Amino acid sequence: MNILITGSNGSLGQELTKALLKQNTVYTTSRHKALPHEKNHIKIDLLEDNAVSKIKEYINNKPIDILINNAAHFCKRKYSEVSEKDMDQSFKVNFKVPFMLIQQLTENLKLSENPQIINIGSLSGQQGVTKYKGLSIYGATKGALTILSETLAEELIKNNIKINCFNLPSFDSKMFTKAFPEENPLLKTKEISEKIISFIHSNTSISGKIITIEKNKLKIL
Ligand SMILES: NC(=O)c1ccc[n+]([C@@H]2O[C@H](COP(=O)([O-])OP(=O)(O)OC[C@H]3O[C@@H](n4cnc5c(N)ncnc54)[C@H](OP(=O)(O)O)[C@@H]3O)[C@@H](O)[C@H]2O)c1
Repeated sequence: MNILITGSNGSLGQELTKALLKQNTVYTTSRHKALPHEKNHIKIDLLEDNAVSKIKEYINNKPIDILINNAAHFCKRKYSEVSEKDMDQSFKVNFKVPFMLIQQLTENLKLSENPQIINIGSLSGQQGVTKYKGLSIYGATKGALTILSETLAEELIKNNIKINCFNLPSFDSKMFTKAFPEENPLLKTKEISEKIISFIHSNTSISGKIITIEKNKLKIL
């Protein structure tokens, strides 16, 4: 399969990339130069104008079987201190870029026999769940991504493109341990990565669903 993963230098991005590379061609994007295992890497800051067009240019007309929107701009700040720049950057990376990647890569996804989009959301963006302080904007962007996954499914299904959103609990990534050094994350990055990969390999027919992980099991909402 051909797989595109954004945010490949992060904790979950690296874990997913290394595991998926064994049997697939994995295209990766990050702000850093390619890590040794990254053979098809696009060095890009997703805040840049035209970032999505540059990714499309690199992929060109190759089929994409799986698109994983994993990169996220993390803003932890008291609401009284949140700036317009924080809002713009958070919504750009966490919502606009996933949306535009889906738009620009639809033709590539249509070339696959079983195309899937996996959006990486968060419990911070899910209704009815206890929240951490300081994540108003981050949570709002993930909430937007959650609803996008549900609404877009209605349009993408005509091309057999499945789209689902993993609203993840806390795990021991760079992002979490830096933001909440006092807290114990619920899961390990490797456990999260394994769950996502087993879902990808299940060749699911479900689409437009929110998926969480509870008691180490996938829960489909
Ligand atoms: N950790 C948790 O507890 C938790 C819980 C729920 C959901 N999530 C979600 O899980 C996903 C993976 O996060 P993680 O925990 O593995 O965090 P991470 O290690 O901080 O990874 C986040 C990735 O996003 C990339 N990124 C951020 N801004 C970018 C930009 N402007 N341009 C390009 N790349 C950018 C980072 O790139 P750099 O390496 O260049 O900084 C990094 O590779 C995210 O969508 C996150 O929201 C995490």
